Amino acid sequence: MSSASMRAVTRHEYGGVAAIRMETLPRPAPGPGQVLVRVRAAGLDRAVLHLLTGTPYVARAAFGVRRPQQPIMGGELAGEVVALGPEVNDFAIGQRVFGTCRTAFAEYALARADQLAATPAGVSDEFAATLGISGGTAHQAVCRHGQVQAGQQVLILGASGGVGSFAVQIAAHLGATVTGVCSQAKTEFVTGLGAQRAVDYRRVEVAELGQRFDVIIDIAGNRPLATLRRALTPKGTLVIVGGEEGGRWLGGLHRNLGASLLNPFVRQRLLWFVAQESRQACEQLAKLAAGGAIRPAIDHTVGLADVAPAVAAMEQGRLRGKVVVIP
Ligand SMILES: NC(=O)c1ccc[n+]([C@@H]2O[C@H](COP(=O)([O-])OP(=O)(O)OC[C@H]3O[C@@H](n4cnc5c(N)ncnc54)[C@H](OP(=O)(O)O)[C@@H]3O)[C@@H](O)[C@H]2O)c1
Repeated sequence: MSSASMRAVTRHEYGGVAAIRMETLPRPAPGPGQVLVRVRAAGLDRAVLHLLTGTPYVARAAFGVRRPQQPIMGGELAGEVVALGPEVNDFAIGQRVFGTCRTAFAEYALARADQLAATPAGVSDEFAATLGISGGTAHQAVCRHGQVQAGQQVLILGASGGVGSFAVQIAAHLGATVTGVCSQAKTEFVTGLGAQRAVDYRRVEVAELGQRFDVIIDIAGNRPLATLRRALTPKGTLVIVGGEEGGRWLGGLHRNLGASLLNPFVRQRLLWFVAQESRQACEQLAKLAAGGAIRPAIDHTVGLADVAPAVAAMEQGRLRGKVVVIP
């Protein structure tokens, strides 16, 4: 391998984990507004699986209709800056950074400077690599959209996953009383993150929890809006983050549309959002991580050669929190 090449995890067609390859590719050079990062760690998040399978199909409009426009996989990373593109003045060569990009599962990755922040001293690359997408989405769901306050009752559906494991920690840190919903085997993991109780979705339905919630963060399960509204207080807030099994075409987006249509006519707040990838979002997480308010929830780490089994483990629901890829 020449010094100007790098190993990267790719797929050239939409498909399952069998489509994942390891390739040697030319090391890219940063363009205007970009930096080249030597990747020390990259997070595996659910979007990696969506962009592997090309589902829901509606997402192909943005990422490639017939095949993925970007063959390299991975959306969140941590590492150090090795080259600066034109017009980038806010980072220095050698500086530790973390954030989001489109090609994280590689030895080197291009990232937009405005989607990176400095990694705080004392925060490992493994931890920082999980913050860009999963941590950022959780923070925006709980703080910006949910506006969770101390003393509130908060229900988090999908509490054991990448986003949920951060959402539980952030809501608990804010002083809320958190109920997490996940599978039975992961209930202890979720209470360990700060939830006051954790409930198995196969045994107890939301309607049977015996209480109403000020805020529901709906990350998984695709429950009907009517079910979720019945579990909310009369002026409570529902924040729809995502949910699998919502159909191959729309992936459950009909619920988002329903929430937007209903919201102006009801006293409850019914919201959904697409997480913003920005330096500001990264900096807010950096503060929480450096202050010890959130800690890593890492199931295991893998090398680039083992991304495929890690994605399969995510697909099969075998992870507690995150997988981190170490190139
Ligand atoms: N809005 C946005 O901008 C945004 C950003 C990032 C992600 N997302 C979406 O958010 C969703 C979650 O992402 P993620 O990275 O956290 O995925 P993940 O790591 O795979 O976690 C999903 C979690 O949901 C749990 N779950 C499955 N079925 C459930 C049910 N019926 N009720 C309650 N919990 C259930 C699973 O628990 P068990 O494993 O214990 O069964 C799992 O821990 C995905 O749909 C993703 O596309 C949206």
